[in-house]
Amino acid sequence: MIDLIENGFDVISVDNLSRGSLRMLQGVEKVVGRPVKNYRVDLCNLEDTEAVFIENPDLIGVIHFAAYKSVPESVKEPLKYFRNNLNSLVNILQCAQEYDVNNFVFSSSCSVYGNAKKLPVDETASLAEPESPYARTKQMGEAICSDFSRQNKRFQATLLRYFNPVGAHPSSLLGELQETPENLVPVITQTAIGKRKEMQIFGNDYPTRDGSCIRDYIHVMDIANAHTRALQYLIKGLNKENCEVFNLGSGNGVSVLELIAAFEKISGQKLNYKVGPRRPGDVVQVYANNNKAETKLGWHAKYNLEQMMETAWNWELALKHESEKVKLN
Ligand code: WQD
Repeated sequence: MIDLIENGFDVISVDNLSRGSLRMLQGVEKVVGRPVKNYRVDLCNLEDTEAVFIENPDLIGVIHFAAYKSVPESVKEPLKYFRNNLNSLVNILQCAQEYDVNNFVFSSSCSVYGNAKKLPVDETASLAEPESPYARTKQMGEAICSDFSRQNKRFQATLLRYFNPVGAHPSSLLGELQETPENLVPVITQTAIGKRKEMQIFGNDYPTRDGSCIRDYIHVMDIANAHTRALQYLIKGLNKENCEVFNLGSGNGVSVLELIAAFEKISGQKLNYKVGPRRPGDVVQVYANNNKAETKLGWHAKYNLEQMMETAWNWELALKHESEKVKLN
């Protein structure tokens, strides 16, 4: 939202806060210096979703992020993921058609590639069998967008395949806020700050350079900027097809052990971890060929791994200072 606002867009938020919090919105408002309206709506409820479109007749585009995104949780509760991630998408597309909102940016994921045969992976790669129900919902979501845009010629979509978004806003006014996150970087920072006694590395016997899984970590602010560029790309009519896919990754593969080492260097904290069994649903390694987003969207990943770790750690420290202030009052 911050990047959109800083690039001249008026923005409304639609978030039922089931995984987010108003604190995030307050952080956005502090950074941009003005209020941002949030509609506390479950996008799986068509009537409530439609009400937002009716109340905002001048919408120029929709960026659809709302989805559950935990690989392990999707393995444990697949139907919860299919219902939430797909019903919300279908409702939004139905409203977009009904209210003639034709610029659509969809939050997809590198997990659609599964265990890609060729790395770095580019957008032309065939999609392997997804490793998790989460990844399945992203593959199905892309297919729904593609079929819908084929049937509805006015509708233009960009599907953004995020690699591993990490880090926090440099102001430390907003970042990931989950009590018990499952993603690697918040688990690392919670372990380092003492919220967790220790963390587990899920397997070090993979066929990679150091035995741990490899991912392409990308700063959330770089991901944000890509959305602004993708929306501008559609509004200016620069897209050649009416449904285009873009990889959003740094292009660098980093292993779990390498990421931990980078964090320890930045934070000066020794991390307390042990190696445990592999986690079901994990891909061995995936990292992006991001040339298409660079050339067609003019997008470049600006933050390096150290800055990703630094902003993530500063955010965790800010949360700790805030909770200490609350205790003192
Ligand atoms: C990364 C690596 C784990 C926790 C994420 C998002 C998903 C999608 C793709 C955007 C894996 C290991 C983790 C821990 C560990 N992004 N790990 N110990 O599974 O790649 O998926 O990126 O759409 O939405 O969830 O990310 O951070 O969970 O795991 O060893 O306590 O870290 O096994 O190899 P993942 P992750």
